[in-house]
Amino acid sequence: MKKFEEIREQFKLKINNVNNHQSLKELKVEFFGKKGLITGLMSEMKNIEDKKSYGQAINDLKCELMAQYNIVEQEINEVLLNEQLKKDAIDVTLPGRKNKPAKQNILLKTAREIEMIFIEMGYEIAIGPEVETDFYNFEALNLDKNHPARDMQDTFYINEHLLLRTHTSGIQSRTLQANANKDLKIICPGKVYRRDDDDATHSHQFMQIEGLVVINKKQNISASMRELKTTLSIFANKIFAGEDLEVRFRQSFFPFTEPSVEVDITCSRCKGSGCNFCKQTGFIEVLGAGVIHKNVLKIAGYDEDEYVGFAFGIGVERIALLKHNIDDIRHLYINDERFNKQF
Ligand code: PHE
Repeated sequence: MKKFEEIREQFKLKINNVNNHQSLKELKVEFFGKKGLITGLMSEMKNIEDKKSYGQAINDLKCELMAQYNIVEQEINEVLLNEQLKKDAIDVTLPGRKNKPAKQNILLKTAREIEMIFIEMGYEIAIGPEVETDFYNFEALNLDKNHPARDMQDTFYINEHLLLRTHTSGIQSRTLQANANKDLKIICPGKVYRRDDDDATHSHQFMQIEGLVVINKKQNISASMRELKTTLSIFANKIFAGEDLEVRFRQSFFPFTEPSVEVDITCSRCKGSGCNFCKQTGFIEVLGAGVIHKNVLKIAGYDEDEYVGFAFGIGVERIALLKHNIDDIRHLYINDERFNKQF
């Protein structure tokens, strides 16, 4: 019993000095461990007569001291937790970071403006895949495998049959084929890709808006060169409203239109007097167009003698550059807030 009392006293003394996990652990080993003081009492068992009461007494002592131990352990854990919480505290009264709403990129805004002009004229929007087949991008447009005009569009091929579309005219072929012998009036906006060295006026990725009108010849309206010129003049006057820019139609060649034209607009930089931007011509080319080639209608399943149509492909970047007097196409893609903010 004296021994019990000694252990109890010793424990009390020591536990009062415990103030961290390390000393708590040491205390645990010293008293409750395999070679600890309490376990040590067991070794006396052989000299004791009333083994049952002795065992009971050891157990009671163990429970008593363990209870004190648990209280202290809990206290220490609480102190540590509070310290940690204090360290991790955040000041919820600090002002948050403001998210400034971004402005719509001027390229996209220009595309939407162009679309609106045509929607007002009764066009519907059609879209198509950016990864296009050689068939829809070229063959269905009267450009068979070895056609030299393929060189006009340096192409990113994925394999022999798949490519990144070089123009939105592939949507023309798709829409024609899906609607053979029906009247059509659509625009097709989208990104297109060509292998090109990027500079102030060239980008390997750019945007086009394709237009396509097909009408049965029996109707009392038509969709030929005259209507094409009227349509494009209306478009140019609307998109450049208020600016004194001249629209010029120039004879050109595309395998999928006959006759073909290219449309130029007065260079907004030099107002037509000639500068580096327009390569001293005074004009910037903004779109290609023409009367749909009979072969294109035929390949799509149209009766090429009964239908007539025109198509055009507008370069959206060129329009944006001209309209807003931007000197480098790359500004449209770099996404510099200082640039975007201006529009
Ligand atoms: N697809 C032609 C180009 O990207 C433009 C075009 C479209 C020409 C429709 C004629 C008719 O260069």
